[in-house]
Amino acid sequence: MRVRLDDPQRAAAWLAELAPAHVRTLDAYQPGKPIEELERELGISGAIKVASNENPQGPSPRALAAIQAALPSIHLYPDAAAFRLRKALAERLGVAEHEVAVGAGSNDLLYQLVLALVGPEQDIVTPALGFLSYRLAAQVAGRTFVATAATPRGPDIEALCAAMTPRTRLVIVGTPNNPTGAVLTRADADRVLAVLPEHALLVLDEAYAEYAAAWPEVDHVDGLAFTRAALAAGDPRVVLLRTFSKAYGLAAMRVGYAVAHGGVLDLLGRVVRTFHVGTLGQVAALAALDDGEHVLRSAALGRRGLERIGAELARRGVTVYPSLANFCLVEAGRPSAPLYDRLLRRGVIVRPMGAWGLPTCLRVSIAGEAELDRVIAALIDVVADDKA
Ligand SMILES: Cc1ncc(COP(=O)(O)O)c(C=O)c1O
Repeated sequence: MRVRLDDPQRAAAWLAELAPAHVRTLDAYQPGKPIEELERELGISGAIKVASNENPQGPSPRALAAIQAALPSIHLYPDAAAFRLRKALAERLGVAEHEVAVGAGSNDLLYQLVLALVGPEQDIVTPALGFLSYRLAAQVAGRTFVATAATPRGPDIEALCAAMTPRTRLVIVGTPNNPTGAVLTRADADRVLAVLPEHALLVLDEAYAEYAAAWPEVDHVDGLAFTRAALAAGDPRVVLLRTFSKAYGLAAMRVGYAVAHGGVLDLLGRVVRTFHVGTLGQVAALAALDDGEHVLRSAALGRRGLERIGAELARRGVTVYPSLANFCLVEAGRPSAPLYDRLLRRGVIVRPMGAWGLPTCLRVSIAGEAELDRVIAALIDVVADDKA
């Protein structure tokens, strides 16, 4: 039989038959446009992107040197087991090597968790206003996704606990959470683990852990200590996810890691795509791990940036929700899409929060010291212009 897609209607009908419903109805991740493209479209230059929670300090020079040194061997496949990186991580984190897995970003590990552990009759429970990949990973696999009550100040822990059933396999909590910046307290983490069903995992997504560490006076769970305590107590139900994309400044290298019970990681290893973490990512992460100063500087820059944005906007009557990450959620009090456009024309690229169900909010990542003044001035002019 021959198939001809010579008109759009036939093409649409053919594609509709080709893919299952859960794929056809998927809302694919909408990446922001590259800066150069936006500048060209708007006829501006020198735009500042504070839309993707990247590290304005850039990567560690040690990571750059390691990448440079590894370039002549990129004709070889990477070490599929990421032996050296896993060994270094295990030493650094105080766990056994078989309790560490690496992924192509923590995003990859989230997808692995869903693919390996959540069956057709089972579900994933997570507070609303979370990282969009939680929902996407569930949808891609055609799995049930349950979002429980949350506000920008944090999840309703009792609602989260009440939503867990014997069908639940993953309970995912971002701490600090993206896009709100809210954290899980130690007591809340204990509470969730206490009611977690026998065959479910509590996944603590700590992509911004190193930033949160710069706020020791604010009660927030230390996911590593929490995971290690669970493992030491013989409880295999906690999974910690962290990444090299944020405080380590290696977002383009796509490296994240999981700390969990070896048996759980063994299950993830069965669904992993071979050679998923490239050589350059592995060597860059390994070198960055040794540059503790760079991470501390990044975290300090994050805290200073958030304190300045928070103080400047608060003085003008604009609510900025508390955040322990490298971004904050700004409550504009009116639809944020037009504000996003106005900021864009001033060369400041933020993230409007309509897709998260927060149509009056903007998420603003911290900028480098040289650029922060411009970001704050633009926010004051555009967001605070009819306040105070
Ligand atoms: C809460 C959270 N988790 C995970 C990630 C994924 O990061 P990556 O896949 O780059 O490690 C992000 C990225 O923005 C995030 O905000």
